[in-house]
Amino acid sequence: MKPFVLVSVVGLLMALPIQAATIAMEDQSQLVPRPAGQQAALFQPPSEKDLPDNAYGKLVRQGYALFVDTRRLAPQFVGNGLNCSNCHLDQGRLANSAPLWAAYPMYPAYRKKNDKVNTYAERLQGCFQFSMNGGTPPAADSPEITALSVYSYWLASKAPLGVEQPGRGYPDVAQPAQGYSIARGAQVYGDQCAVCHGAQGQGQKVGDHYAMPPLWGKDSYNWGAGMHRINTAAAFIKHNMPLGKGASLSDQQAWDVAAYINSHERPQDPRLIEGSVEKTRVKFHANDGVNLYGQTVEGVLIGQGIR
Ligand code: HEC
Ligand code: HEC
Repeated sequence: MKPFVLVSVVGLLMALPIQAATIAMEDQSQLVPRPAGQQAALFQPPSEKDLPDNAYGKLVRQGYALFVDTRRLAPQFVGNGLNCSNCHLDQGRLANSAPLWAAYPMYPAYRKKNDKVNTYAERLQGCFQFSMNGGTPPAADSPEITALSVYSYWLASKAPLGVEQPGRGYPDVAQPAQGYSIARGAQVYGDQCAVCHGAQGQGQKVGDHYAMPPLWGKDSYNWGAGMHRINTAAAFIKHNMPLGKGASLSDQQAWDVAAYINSHERPQDPRLIEGSVEKTRVKFHANDGVNLYGQTVEGVLIGQGIR
């Protein structure tokens, strides 16, 4: 009986038309700042061996595959060199790396800012559009969003609904008293990051695939992505980088290197208004955390975009 169910569900998924969706989320908004999760109190997602061998298990596996191999499996929705798991480490399981198990139970989420309820599907679409620079994101009822939602649901098995879990998001790292320095960040970058991400932030390719993801340039996240905020990048970096040595940088180093990375060009914000960086800055960046979009640094306008 099981194989039959499995085949028919997969067949159904494949048959679903991929619809053109309108831009669903108007920004990749920042979560409310939260403390870092302490090891002892962390939620434990299920392990792969607990996955049932049925249609549901098959769909979870499809979502997992899409999450870690996004560029290859959904090329029509990825406009850069990244996979979801590049920023949501350990297959979306790692605490303080925006784990999926902490995200899924928190949607739909009401946002006062735009008086709108954001669904989980819209959140995923936002990451496709901005972090993956993917153009029109997959429709809410597409096979891609379905599989990624099912994978997230599984990781969140037995988590309480609507309860903020320790380790959600990239816990806030307060801006140091000294602010940040792009010049100091360049130094940190050269010493601790370039070995993997390349002197020009270009990452490292093996054939067509990035073994080390790029941090700026045409294959990186775009100017609308949450990671373009210096505060968000500092939080990600502080907890997760250098890879395998999370929490080794000082807050100051994390802010400096985040500013350095986010002072470099990357694909344009897809919400660009009438070709004007200034109009786009005023509407979308002026109140979006700490960022350099539309500002002039050493005589150069940042946010011109790159293709
Ligand atoms: C360039 C880095 C990057 C990539 C690549 C990326 N994301 Fe994200 N993602 C973020 C950031 C930044 C946030 C906002 C986190 C915050 O504000 O603390 C986020 C938030 C999320 C959230 C909501 C988390 C929560 O707790 O509410 C989900 C779910 C998510 N991403 C899924 C995905 C999926 C699926 C993909 C691939 C299609 C993806 N992301 C690719 C950086 C990225
Ligand atoms: C040992 C190699 C290594 C070092 C050193 C390293 N990274 Fe990474 N970094 C990675 C890998 C690999 C990923 C993707 C993780 C994954 O897919 O599991 C990543 C992901 C990232 C990302 C998110 C994905 C993207 O492309 O935007 C950022 C930002 C980042 N690193 C910044 C830094 C910074 C800043 C430093 C230095 C403080 C640093 N990394 C040092 C290997 C490294």
